[in-house]
Amino acid sequence: MKTEAKYNLQVFETVDELNIAAAKLIIEIAHKAIAEKGRFIIALSGGSTPTELYSLLSEPFYRYQIEWNKAFVFWGDERYVALDDVRNNAHQAKLVLLNKINIPQSNIHVIQTNLSPVEAADNYEKELKLFFNTEPMQFDLILLGLGENGHTASLFPNTQALQEKSAGIKEVYLEEEKKYRITMTAPLINMARHIIFLVAGNKKAEIVKDIFTTTDKYPAQLIQPVNGELTWLMDNQAASLIKKN
Ligand code: 6PG
Repeated sequence: MKTEAKYNLQVFETVDELNIAAAKLIIEIAHKAIAEKGRFIIALSGGSTPTELYSLLSEPFYRYQIEWNKAFVFWGDERYVALDDVRNNAHQAKLVLLNKINIPQSNIHVIQTNLSPVEAADNYEKELKLFFNTEPMQFDLILLGLGENGHTASLFPNTQALQEKSAGIKEVYLEEEKKYRITMTAPLINMARHIIFLVAGNKKAEIVKDIFTTTDKYPAQLIQPVNGELTWLMDNQAASLIKKN
C-alpha cells in the first residue's frame, strides 16, 4: 500500500461481526447521502464474500433503515454469463437482497450480458452517463472484494483494463476463465465518495499482507479514492498476517 495512501482499517473477530459492521457503515453512508442529495448511489461487489452481508441487509432490522426508493444500485463488475446464471453477480444480489426489499426495479441497473462484451460495457457506460446526467460520475459507495491474486472488481493482473484512463467501464477477457467480464475501471472507482473493501477468510491473508506491505504490484492497489474515503473491513483470519496498529 502506498504509504501516503490514507485508509481506514477495521478488523473483526468473526465474519458475523464484520458483516454487522459493514451493514452499519453502509446504512450510515446511505443516510448521509440521502440527507445531503436525496439519493444513495451504490455499486455492489460480486463474489461470495458479500453474500452474507447482502442477506443481513435484507433482514427487517437492517432493511427498514435504508429508504430503498431513494437508493440506486449498480455493480462494480459482472461475469459475462446469462442474467439468470448463478454466477451472475446481479442475479445473486437479487436472490439474497434486492428481491426482498422495497426497491423500484427502475432503481436497479444490471449490466446487460445479453449483449456482446464490448456492447455490454459501452451500454453500461452510457447508462451511467444518462443516470448521472450533468453531475460527476461519483458513487456514494462502491463495495469491493479482493481476489487471492490481488484483483478487485474484474480488474485482473496483466489485463488491458488496468491501463484504462478514460473509460469508466471496460470488457475484460480472462484467459484463465476463458470468459469475459465487464468491469468498472480504477479511475471510475476512485471517483467514489466511499470505497469499502470487504475481505474475509484465511485464504486472503497472504494477499492482504502483500497488498499492505508492497506498492504498485496488484490491481487492488490502484484503488485510491481521489477525494473519498477508503475503508478496509476484514475478519481476523484475512488480517492475520498484517499488524493492526
Ligand atoms: C466477482 C467480484 C470479484 C470478487 C473477488 C473476491 O465478480 O467475483 O467482483 O472481484 O470480489 O474475486 O471473491 P470472493 O468474495 O468470492 O472471494
